[in-house]
Amino acid sequence: MKKFARITGTGSYLPPKIVTNFDLEKTLNTSDDWITARTGIKERRIVTDENTCDLALEASLNALSMAALNPEDIDLIILATTTPDKIFPATATILQDRLGASCPAFDLQAVCAGFVFALTTAQQYIENGSAKNILVVGSETMSKIVDWSDRSTAILFADGAGAVVLSADNTTGIKHSKVLSDGSFLSSLHVNNNGIDERGTIQMEGNEVFKIAVHRLSNLAEETLKDCSMTSEDLTWMVPHQANIRIIKAVAKKIKLPMDKVIQTLDKHGNTSAASIPLALDEGVRDGRIKKGDTLLFEGIGGGFSWGSVLLEY
Ligand code: ACO
Repeated sequence: MKKFARITGTGSYLPPKIVTNFDLEKTLNTSDDWITARTGIKERRIVTDENTCDLALEASLNALSMAALNPEDIDLIILATTTPDKIFPATATILQDRLGASCPAFDLQAVCAGFVFALTTAQQYIENGSAKNILVVGSETMSKIVDWSDRSTAILFADGAGAVVLSADNTTGIKHSKVLSDGSFLSSLHVNNNGIDERGTIQMEGNEVFKIAVHRLSNLAEETLKDCSMTSEDLTWMVPHQANIRIIKAVAKKIKLPMDKVIQTLDKHGNTSAASIPLALDEGVRDGRIKKGDTLLFEGIGGGFSWGSVLLEY
């Protein structure tokens, strides 16, 4: 019997420290008005002394609790992150140990598209029968790779974690997924480290990224609906990567989806890269907007570029 990969638990965690646009006005030549109008962001969470795994652990425990599973029930952990705790071992293995799980665990790096890539990877394990329950996490401490003197990037990026438990289901779950990459855009959005002995900071051609994000994500969202023989009227919610409200609105407009069917957390979370979709999903689930049986579309694009979408029945 065909197995579907179905989300059975969601969880998230945000570090307590809030940095508002007004806080950034004190150190950067910027304003709340500019940031709000150009991005939709009002505030973001920034770690003080937490690492990526600390955030991932809290989000994972919340997701496991909702799924009513224990760490030993998990067959695989996939952690999407751009900001691992160490070069090695994978942050996923640190998470495995701290959870008290004993399954295989690995990191996956596709920047802001990391969660969509991780979900798509986990889906394969479930559909081919090699795993029943998988913990998929997106966790980031982007503040550690931001140049805090660069107003074009410091206003955007933030920290947080989201997680889902994906379980084998006989009836429904992920219906369609697609991931793509085009490495020729390295210079548009990358970290300028030179080998492993340098950390580097995010370098971004914002305007270029904006145009490409709108174009690629709009096309992918249209293709995804077409492949599923659906229109946007069949979607209950779009849960997009939270990069810029203008990107989100442009994609919604292209597929004729009203904005009241889009889960937005950008104003409070900023761009948390691989964590942004599971953070938004968890918020929608816990406040009761997203319900069992809803049809959801996830989409996201990240540096360099990688992008993807997942359409599922929740
Ligand atoms: N405050 C005030 N002014 C600023 C700021 C700031 N924080 N940042 C840039 N400006 C200035 C620029 O210097 C420029 O001034 P100039 O005209 O005197 O040269 C002016 O504002 C316009 O700059 P643009 O870069 O053209 O502004 P734009 O409208 O494109 O907005 C932004 C910039 C917000 C970065 C936008 O391009 C964007 O969001 N791009 C997408 C980037 C993104 O989302 N990256 C995340 C990772 S990838 C992903 O997740 C999609």
